[in-house]
Amino acid sequence: MKYRFARRMSCIPPSFLGELFRVSSQRGVISFAGGLPGSAHIDVRGLAEAARQVFEDEGRSSLQYSTTDGHLPLREYIAARYRQRLGLPATADEIQIVNGSQQCLDLVAKILVNPGDHIGMERPGYLGAIEAFSLYEPVIHAVPLTDSGPDLSSFAALVREHPVRFFYGIPNSQNPSGRTYSEEYRKALAGILDGTGTLFYEDDAFGELFFDGRPRLPLKRFLPDQTVMSGSFSKIVAPGMRIGWIYAPQPVLAQFNCAKQAADLHSNFLSQVILHRYLATHDLDSHVRNVSRIYGEHCRLMCELLDDLMPEGMTHTTPEGGMFLMCTLPPGLSSMEVFREGVREGVAVLPGVPFFVDGGGEDTIRLNFSTAEGEAIREGLDRLARVIRKLA
Ligand SMILES: Cc1ncc(COP(=O)(O)O)c(C=O)c1O
Repeated sequence: MKYRFARRMSCIPPSFLGELFRVSSQRGVISFAGGLPGSAHIDVRGLAEAARQVFEDEGRSSLQYSTTDGHLPLREYIAARYRQRLGLPATADEIQIVNGSQQCLDLVAKILVNPGDHIGMERPGYLGAIEAFSLYEPVIHAVPLTDSGPDLSSFAALVREHPVRFFYGIPNSQNPSGRTYSEEYRKALAGILDGTGTLFYEDDAFGELFFDGRPRLPLKRFLPDQTVMSGSFSKIVAPGMRIGWIYAPQPVLAQFNCAKQAADLHSNFLSQVILHRYLATHDLDSHVRNVSRIYGEHCRLMCELLDDLMPEGMTHTTPEGGMFLMCTLPPGLSSMEVFREGVREGVAVLPGVPFFVDGGGEDTIRLNFSTAEGEAIREGLDRLARVIRKLA
């Protein structure tokens, strides 16, 4: 049998990440390559108790089919949190539950992009977004990401020169770079987009995880009718529940709802009811404060060790939150070489190449600081320093 697949399947960039994660999870390897939240910070007991209560009190209804929009009390909780934390005038009917915010990437592209349409994203950009968008065969433009946000003149030129359907960005603790847009840049980006036909897709996967606990104003505050926002419980409760959401203007949401219904009818309803029960009976703020504090300690330690141990010419970003930072290697070093030699020495890093949709990034690596604890961070960076000194 010669299997024949749709043309779009050849549009996904080839990825060596599966192989790389397999290698980096070998015994004895300290891995900074992954992207998981710390398992130790999942409140298993609290979620088990919420699940027990749901099965006892509303087992039958929570095991039934439900609506595409998602569990109303959960959507009300999310809207109320937007109002309280970020001053956004959100209501439950502007929010729809999805199967992890990754599903938003697929469905937003599905409803907005025809083959050959133009979209924009950051350079480097989130790999999961590159993969999801690529299936809809767009022309992807990558705008260099500076320490303050996407380079404004490249951004303005992109929007001026092409009918860009949407620009996808992660203003808070970006994946992979760990950078956060400044408020000035958020306002400037909103100003450039205002009145154009281009939407801003604001992925806020990490907005709750600022080490100082201070929320940053979302771009949606400055461009409400042109911003589609996504959020997720993956990093603040548990990724395995697969619950995220989209918060979007009504016309977008109506189309999104049709696409979501066609794709899967609705997200796992049992998961939604259990999660809502958990949120109604636990203090999410204090949990998030605790997780952010711990990630902040890991990140500070990692930055200090990078400064102390790495040779001249190696630089790194200094995140204010999230789970990742990015390093630029000393001139002449290749991230794949560092990866291979690192695994031999017992430390795994993630080469930055797949995050650069238009090529490049061979001299970058992404390091995760949400999973390894203090001693492992010290030992892992010691090993990495040895590898880099040897190759430099
Ligand atoms: C920036 C970003 N957006 C979206 C996602 C998808 O997460 P989830 O589907 O678990 O909400 C991730 C996962 O790591 C991410 O890093």
